Amino acid sequence: MADTSGTEAIAQRALELVPANSVVGLGTGRAATAFIHALGARVRTGLVVRGIPTSDASATLATQLGIPLVTFDDVDAIDVCVDGADEVDPAGDLIKGYGGALLREKIVAAFSRKLVILVGSEKLVPVLGTRGVLPVEVVPFALTPCRRQLAALGFVGEPRAKDGKLFVTDNGNYILDCKTAPLTDPAASDAALHAVPGVVGTGLFVKRAHTIMVQHGNDVEVRRG
Ligand code: A5P
Repeated sequence: MADTSGTEAIAQRALELVPANSVVGLGTGRAATAFIHALGARVRTGLVVRGIPTSDASATLATQLGIPLVTFDDVDAIDVCVDGADEVDPAGDLIKGYGGALLREKIVAAFSRKLVILVGSEKLVPVLGTRGVLPVEVVPFALTPCRRQLAALGFVGEPRAKDGKLFVTDNGNYILDCKTAPLTDPAASDAALHAVPGVVGTGLFVKRAHTIMVQHGNDVEVRRG
């Protein structure tokens, strides 16, 4: 049984935003996993949907649960994407990527009509950067120059490691977990980071979320992004 960390209630609420015959972006992480399990249960009782996963892990899970998968080559648009987040500010802007799937998450979110974010109340912050880490995905060839350039911009990055080796994303890239101060202008920070050659994605999701579902104990708060 997956560790869904008490996110079942918001996962069930998110199902209400999934129309029949829709294309659904499948996020990555514990909250998204809870949603994929809930969606799989609905598919088994007759809901017709097709999923576009944001990671190999979510693709594997969806397949195990019987959710049919498609790619961007198969569909014109994604109706709704359901994903988690690591920080949510009062404007509904996000930091994502602690789970390493930030690039595909941002691509799927960008081509989705709606992005629904599922979080526990511990993810709510007064300003992005409060937890002090911003993940940035870089191509391996550019790891060292990106690290220097990002540090010059104030984002001192440590290459993410797993099992004693550099963590490699589903796209074959590395992640710099950058120390960050609170970000008063996340859009400007995102633009500055993306201007560094070799950076292919940041964990900053600015003006992307349409709906944010926050689980407070047993209660679900629904915010519009
Ligand atoms: C994956 O790269 C992340 O963006 C996750 O969506 C995010 O870290 C939230 O994950 P949890 O729901 O596991 O906290």
